[in-house]
Amino acid sequence: MLGTAVVALLQAQVAALPEHRIADIMKPLASPAEAEKNIALFSFAITGVIFVVVAGLIFFTLWKFRRKHDEDEFREPAQVYGSNQIEVAWTIIPVLIVFILIGVTARVIAGVENASPPKNVTKITIIGHQWWWEVKYPDYDIVTANEIHVPSLPDGKAASYLKLESADVIHSFWLPQLSGKTDLIPNRDNFMWINPKEPGVYFGNCAEYCGTQHANMLLRVIAQTPDDFKKWASEQQQNAASAAAMTPERAEFEALSCVNCHAIKGTVAVGKFGPDLTHLMSRQTLGAGVIDNTPANLKIWVNNPQDPKPGCFMPSLKLTDSELTQVVDYLGSLK
Ligand code: CUA
Repeated sequence: MLGTAVVALLQAQVAALPEHRIADIMKPLASPAEAEKNIALFSFAITGVIFVVVAGLIFFTLWKFRRKHDEDEFREPAQVYGSNQIEVAWTIIPVLIVFILIGVTARVIAGVENASPPKNVTKITIIGHQWWWEVKYPDYDIVTANEIHVPSLPDGKAASYLKLESADVIHSFWLPQLSGKTDLIPNRDNFMWINPKEPGVYFGNCAEYCGTQHANMLLRVIAQTPDDFKKWASEQQQNAASAAAMTPERAEFEALSCVNCHAIKGTVAVGKFGPDLTHLMSRQTLGAGVIDNTPANLKIWVNNPQDPKPGCFMPSLKLTDSELTQVVDYLGSLK
């Protein structure tokens, strides 16, 4: 009864989660994640056999030597002292099992870490910030945030090589369907690679507690056909169309302190502390996945980011209604 109730409660909680909070490590769609799934199943099988043997022996003994109704005293099984054979057996077998697990794990880790990615990789630098992801493409001169566009080919032949850095504290980069976790550590460069085998959106998150909004440090990989990726990249390389002309809305934005933290290519906004906004409207979410990027949500976010994401480092600027409308209009032009 209680078990059923608990399961129902858990199922209801999972069902209530937004789709992007669920990514199944048992459905890998890239080489590193596949290798990790296989080794997890292998370890589970070995430990499962150990469990069945040990638990089986315990239950067999309990049953065999149980006290029967017509007995006054316990019957003891034969007591064996100092049997070399038994001691050698229960030493060597576990040692062998441990060495098999070590060997297999080391081989998979080395395979994932040393595998030289295919030749024409896309190089991407990812910088963890409290609580968002900065994403740079050094070969394309693109800076974006929280959404990593990568090319994808069915056989996994299109790989992306990720350089992982941190701007503040330790974060951990995790896309369950693509690869295991890798930490982003201040003053250290870590590397990993992914080769999504199907176009689509892959959800991930920060996997190392990094402060108040750790849980809302979400990321997504958007895997595209090479043609779509090229199209996206060339759009990102351009300035937003609105960077060509000065409008009252843009003038309002540039007069506010937004420009101290955010950059918009082709304008006076060159701040580095917050996400680059050059093509803000091309992104799916705001606040590193905390809300969808819709006009209504953009207004809520700009009005007071502490409302959807309490504790984040973007303050409410306490804009007047007309300032807020102008800023949101201008941001909406950053396509
Ligand atoms: Cu970044 Cu947790």
